[in-house]
Amino acid sequence: MSFLRMDELDIGGKRVMIREDFNVPLEAGRVTSDARLRAALPTINMALNRGAAVILLSHLGRPNEGEYSDEFSLAPVAEHLSGLLNRPVKLKKDWLNGVDVEAGEVVLCENVRFNNGEKGNDETLARSMASLCDIFVMDAFGTAHRAQASTEGVIRYAPVACAGPLLSRELYELESALTNPERPMLAIVGGSKVSTKLTVLESLMSKVDELIVGGGIANTFIAASGHDVGQSLYEPDLIHEAQRLIRMAHKKGGEIPIPKDVVVAKSFTKDAEAYVRGVDEVQQDEMILDIGPLTAIDYATMIQGAGTVIWNGPVGVFEFKNFAAGTRAIADAIEISNAFSIAGGGDTLAAIDQFNIADGVSYISTGGGAFLEYVEGKILPAVAALEARFNA
Ligand code: 3PG
Ligand code: MG
Repeated sequence: MSFLRMDELDIGGKRVMIREDFNVPLEAGRVTSDARLRAALPTINMALNRGAAVILLSHLGRPNEGEYSDEFSLAPVAEHLSGLLNRPVKLKKDWLNGVDVEAGEVVLCENVRFNNGEKGNDETLARSMASLCDIFVMDAFGTAHRAQASTEGVIRYAPVACAGPLLSRELYELESALTNPERPMLAIVGGSKVSTKLTVLESLMSKVDELIVGGGIANTFIAASGHDVGQSLYEPDLIHEAQRLIRMAHKKGGEIPIPKDVVVAKSFTKDAEAYVRGVDEVQQDEMILDIGPLTAIDYATMIQGAGTVIWNGPVGVFEFKNFAAGTRAIADAIEISNAFSIAGGGDTLAAIDQFNIADGVSYISTGGGAFLEYVEGKILPAVAALEARFNA
């Protein structure tokens, strides 16, 4: 991959605008997992140490475009980041009209998704962002799969556009891990819906030897195997697709295993009472919130036998203590495994933090969707734009 890199440039005294992925989980106005903020620190510190005036951009969540809302404000991020950088981080609300920032200072611009035209990659918007800087640094690997004004668009119009150290490192690590991976290769994909991950599951099937599905996705596969899932979150319309993927796996000599046992509850609440059931014993008024202990052993064994493990998404509602055991078993198995392990995605990073296994994971990506799209072999639009500028 060839593109300009921030560390090759003389950035002293320049207005350096860095696109970050500060899309972090918040609870009651506080950042609950700061992995993405910590991952951005080396780039920001490098820019400051070299005397740049630093302007940071990020999105947060999916607000209604064109409307400010407190709920999606980056204020908690500015505050948390200020603590991590040990210096003030000013939050600028109406920044498209201009940003005052001196060398050695950091200004965080309010959520890019409050601007009309961000998602549609509007040219006028991208040009006004570009006009605020001398150098644009794309460092948001987690958002590199989005062709939006603050990612792909601004790269085309900025006076100079380059990749930041985090983006470069993510691409380098993933490419090294996925070129001639150690086999068998196992992917663990959790999440609530098959519909949002159907193409991912399908292309992963052609790359990996085994695929473990978790969460709501697994419920659809359980239903596709003929079991009643009671009140569980699942997608009846996608049962045929799930069956097709199971057949695809078998044809390749691999499998998408169905849990033997599950943990259920009668309500989706933090302190709901948990019951272990065989997968064919789920009652009408119960919902599946985790894999059961026998399944956890099976999955841990698969992880121990793998040469490469790709992990995106928990297998249960690990935020609730009664439904955390399955995800903990996966995390522990990855921690002790000798497989090359790559993990990515917001929930996955939160689980890695919660179970304190970061040291046992070979590479932790800040990307969720971007990470999966990269693994699938898709071109990330922001990376393509950097390459196009480099080759122009
Ligand atoms: C993510 O968390 O995956 C990225 O920040 C992208 O967010 P998005 O899916 O809302 O574009
Ligand atoms: Mg390990």
